[in-house]
Amino acid sequence: MTDEWVRVGTPEEVAARGCTLVTAPGRAIAVFAVDGAFQAIDNRCPHMGFPLNRGTLRDGILTCHWHHARFDVTSGGTLDPFADDAPSFDTEVRDGAVWVRTRPRTQDAVARTLQRIAEGLREDIGLVLAKGSVALQAATARDGTAWLAPALATAAEYGCTHRAGGWASGMTILTAMANVAPALDAADRPLGLYHGLVHVARDCDGQPPLVPQRALGGSRATLDELGRWLRRSVEVRDEDGARRVVLTALERGAGPAEMSAMTFAAATDHLYLSGGHALDFLNKAFELLELIGWEHAPAVLTAALIPVSRATRAEEASNWRQPVDLVELVARAWSRADTLAAALAARPSGPADDLVPTLLGEDPAAAANALVDALLGGRAPADLAQALAYAAALRMARFPTTNEFGDWIAVLHTFTYCNALHRALLRAPTAELCRGLLHGAMAVHLDRFLNVPAARLPVADPTRDGFPQAFLELLDAQQQVEPAAQMVASRLVHTDEGVVAALGRAVLREDAEFHTYQTLEAAWRQYGGRRGTEEGRRILVAASRYIAAHAPTPRAMLRTAEIAERLHKGEALFENEAMDGAGPA
Ligand code: FES
Repeated sequence: MTDEWVRVGTPEEVAARGCTLVTAPGRAIAVFAVDGAFQAIDNRCPHMGFPLNRGTLRDGILTCHWHHARFDVTSGGTLDPFADDAPSFDTEVRDGAVWVRTRPRTQDAVARTLQRIAEGLREDIGLVLAKGSVALQAATARDGTAWLAPALATAAEYGCTHRAGGWASGMTILTAMANVAPALDAADRPLGLYHGLVHVARDCDGQPPLVPQRALGGSRATLDELGRWLRRSVEVRDEDGARRVVLTALERGAGPAEMSAMTFAAATDHLYLSGGHALDFLNKAFELLELIGWEHAPAVLTAALIPVSRATRAEEASNWRQPVDLVELVARAWSRADTLAAALAARPSGPADDLVPTLLGEDPAAAANALVDALLGGRAPADLAQALAYAAALRMARFPTTNEFGDWIAVLHTFTYCNALHRALLRAPTAELCRGLLHGAMAVHLDRFLNVPAARLPVADPTRDGFPQAFLELLDAQQQVEPAAQMVASRLVHTDEGVVAALGRAVLREDAEFHTYQTLEAAWRQYGGRRGTEEGRRILVAASRYIAAHAPTPRAMLRTAEIAERLHKGEALFENEAMDGAGPA
């Protein structure tokens, strides 16, 4: 062996063997004699690790004997997207011997991994995405979360352009799991990315792509004019017009604050669009841009505008009209806020939880008027949204399991909407967006029947121990809502260390449904502003109840992720000697 080169044998010996296995640092290389030449590829099948020297080589194609992936023996390139290209190696004949270089031909692990992630998204192959998530973290750094950004950008450019319906739950899950990644155990961060990527791929699979739009080239329209045009387009559900206006505003240099003001105004001209999802999605789009860079704004924001343009409006829902016309009620309350000052961002911040009893009360007018009074009284809009999010979290904390199971989603919708509104108001607190406070308050009001009878908040038992393992074991069984909440509450008496990570693990080991990811992320976000407080503890208790209610599932995604992890570590997954039958032909 010299530096990177290993002697394989004489040409005659190698030709006679057909395939020679060479040991190199960290890997085995299969060297094949083919038509008087010598080809070398990594001996581990890139799909699930079967030894390729036990495959069949015919007409230049090497076929693995496990799941029958096929490889061009000269390059390692696969004909089957579910597998991966096998690393290939240079060979040469010198000094009467065949030599193989132990350094693979392709060296840029990050670029290669991102390419595979892009292919996994296009082909909707979970194992490819799981392997890419593990490999990307390993190729960059084990700690931190900066390594996520290129994968997020890859997924954004795909997910925001390959679905005619625009931004959907997959992009939301992807962003939510990237947001919460710093609070997860480092080993679970690739799992979070994998979940997000899988849901983006599923959302786009079989969907017509989004027809591209363009900016109004040469437009001299001001941002104020463009903002009005956008609202008018959304008003009549003209998504193409809305996207062109957004692209024009971006081309004219609008930044995050201007775009936020413009788009959230359009998203709050009507009440509680699509059960809160449209505003939530739009906020997530801005959060994603904070992670991957503003240069992706054209693709991301135009995709997020589609669910806003297509949204159902609470005005169209009977429960917002009867027995109390909440739409009229909101309009009446808001009419007093016409004089709301523009300089909302400069207001001093302070807790607004004194409003929570009113927000949870029986009188929707009192709730709406209390918020308007608070705004007119100079309180910061984001503080009001934070109080609203806390009220919504209490609806989840007090959700009795005697309710219909599907109603968990109703209280979750309100909570995640209020969390999104809080984030959006921190970003750009405009008077128009403040209307969302009243919309959220009406949703909290409507959810009141889901707290009848109200579940009791758990009493912490400081003697309980074993967190997080005991908590996770608890969630191996169904119907553990109250025990799980009590365990979390008991842990929080001592410390919050590891609580969000355990909740994250509890979500990511399941085949979680969209709203469970939202619960985790919104609770993490809202707890972050209330760390160490009783209110913060109740938010995490609320999340633990929701997560426990939705566990366990078959955990199929976890199985795939574990396979990817084991493959990455070089573990052998095949054990069936019956498959060893055929050697290289
Ligand atoms: S095709 Fe080779 S291990 Fe699956």
